[in-house]
Amino acid sequence: SAIPEIATRVVRWQKEHGRNHLPWQNTRDAYRVWLSEIMLQQTQVATVLDYYARFLERFPDVKALAAAPQDEVLALWSGLGYYSRARNLHKAAQQVVSEFGGEFPHTVELLSSLPGIGRSTAGAIASFCFGERSAILDANVRRVLTRVLGFDADLAVASNERRLWALADQLLPVDDLQNNMPRYTQGMMDLGAGICTPRSPACLLCPLESVCVARRNGHPENYPVRTRT
Ligand code: ADE
Repeated sequence: SAIPEIATRVVRWQKEHGRNHLPWQNTRDAYRVWLSEIMLQQTQVATVLDYYARFLERFPDVKALAAAPQDEVLALWSGLGYYSRARNLHKAAQQVVSEFGGEFPHTVELLSSLPGIGRSTAGAIASFCFGERSAILDANVRRVLTRVLGFDADLAVASNERRLWALADQLLPVDDLQNNMPRYTQGMMDLGAGICTPRSPACLLCPLESVCVARRNGHPENYPVRTRT
């Protein structure tokens, strides 16, 4: 099976062709990575850049954010939309201070206990900051994985969604000795955003082209399969 080859290919491709100079990369500061992941959940990179810089200027660390009045947090979020993200951000900062002594926890399980941090965001923070072998499965990565694996079970069914998470776990690099986890996570994001797009994916530029089941069967746009949203 192609499974052990996939991580190697993604990591090698990311080095050469991925995004490596975004302001939330090349740091292991969980506060910065967390803030970027929350902003990027429903907002494009180009829009996030200015908000991210302004937010960090006013709230340089989790303690500053936790101590701020909520209306100031919401004012800096103004224009980004989905304001529950900002309210959860503020609450999570207060919990990091009160429950974890101001240090973000390192595991997916504990990170997911914070408001606004779901399993995929927790996986991103744990892999980027702490080198944990934790998968992500946001909309972009779901598309990459279902296509590569030819996973055509209905993701509206919870058991199928769980099976895809288990496969995502199996595909992770076997070790993080060369900082492979951050690069693999970023590589999956970069493939989903730039190559393995919903319509007309750029298969000829994809490092997984030769192992991709959907490419072989000719219909990558038919993945993922989901009967209702
Ligand atoms: N979207 C979510 N996380 C991202 C990241 N780390 N880089 C670029 N886009 C993203």
